[in-house]
Amino acid sequence: MNKREQYEDLLPQVQAVMDENVDIIANMANLTAMLHETFGFWWTGFYRVIGDELVLGPFQGPLACTRIPFGRGVCGSAWKERKTLVVPDVEQFPGHIACSSASRSEIVVPVFQNDEVVAVLDIDSDRLGTFDDVDAQYLEQLVGRL
Ligand code: SME
Repeated sequence: MNKREQYEDLLPQVQAVMDENVDIIANMANLTAMLHETFGFWWTGFYRVIGDELVLGPFQGPLACTRIPFGRGVCGSAWKERKTLVVPDVEQFPGHIACSSASRSEIVVPVFQNDEVVAVLDIDSDRLGTFDDVDAQYLEQLVGRL
């Protein structure tokens, strides 16, 4: 299966699992698990907007930084710019925050509620150039189901 087919397979599964009657953290945890297991990423998880910083939420993979200020790193930049950021080589991204030295490429997708960014989905790969517009398009759809 190619990447697009894997995402197409995942969409109805995620739809079935997302529960609108529970706290968003429970749904973030399950979405994280499904993405991480399907694609075998290095690190998959959420940071939630709490006050003026991002705070680590549900994730799978090695331990990570707990707090990221607005506008800092890829995550803080995606929050500030209110858009998905695809980073093919993290060493080329000024201000990238290296929670793990194994991370080589990254995608960060903002989660909106009532037009406000309430969280970001952050995915790291241990290979260069893992993410592209296909990932951006499907991950935006998936976080829209939270
Ligand atoms: N690399 C991110 C920090 C979070 S970790 O990758 C899990 C950034 O630059 O914002």
